Amino acid sequence: MIVVSKIDELKKLIYDWKSQGQTIGFCPTMGSLHAGHMDLVQSSKTQTDKTIVSIFVNPTQFNDPKDFEKYPVNTENDLLLCEKNGVDIVFLPDVKTMYPDTKTPIQLSIPKLQNHLCGRTRPGHFEGVLQIVAKLFHLTEPTKAFFGLKDYQQFRVISAMVENLNFPLDIVGVPTRRETDGLAMSSRNVRLSTKERETASLIPRMFALAKKTIQAGERDIKLWKEILRDFLLTGSSLRIDYLEVVDPIELQPKEKLEGEILLAIAVFVGEVRLIDNQVIEIPN
Ligand code: PAF
Repeated sequence: MIVVSKIDELKKLIYDWKSQGQTIGFCPTMGSLHAGHMDLVQSSKTQTDKTIVSIFVNPTQFNDPKDFEKYPVNTENDLLLCEKNGVDIVFLPDVKTMYPDTKTPIQLSIPKLQNHLCGRTRPGHFEGVLQIVAKLFHLTEPTKAFFGLKDYQQFRVISAMVENLNFPLDIVGVPTRRETDGLAMSSRNVRLSTKERETASLIPRMFALAKKTIQAGERDIKLWKEILRDFLLTGSSLRIDYLEVVDPIELQPKEKLEGEILLAIAVFVGEVRLIDNQVIEIPN
């Protein structure tokens, strides 16, 4: 495994691969890697010849500077995990490398996909994500790029950027890896105290309740959301940032429980913000 932090070195390695006709899989990350990230790596390894992981805690996507400061960093362990999982290159740039010119910043956005969910409660977040991901795509020139579906809105926003701007690559969504109690794996989970971790287990239980109540015939969307909210709020130190029902493609609010829906939530457990979602098919 090769670890590079300079753009020139990375470009040289990619040029060599491309001239040999190798396909490239790219897994962008912010580090503090866990089994969920390794699912991205494994998908890449089965679908492409070479796999690149980038590790970069991107400052432009944090609307709360405190969240940025507290974002867990665990580079030594990340590199070991990448090596063990057969990653070919880890790209580990610093902020100056990724943002050498702050005088003329660019801004990308896809307003329709960003108006709800995290885009509404974290202003500027997706602009930062699109900025860094577009740069990383140009630097790594992937054939396919892999994103976890826990960050469903991010997956949709990036897919739409690739489509709109004709980036020559495919975006692949990888299912969410979960802990044994169903909590979605996240780099932020390590910041939860034992008590908060217990509270966080209300999230997968809320999704189970959501499905059960739909199966039992509940179709009143307002009432349904209230039942789910009330369930979550039984958790001490849990605050709901949003609990929304949208269509899974354009991410617009649904007025009725019908067809395919995305139930998406963001909650704060103590100070830690957790997100999760489920696509649910509502039976007729
Ligand atoms: O999902 C993440 O970890 C980040 O948003 C990403 C895609 C690596 C961009 O910084």
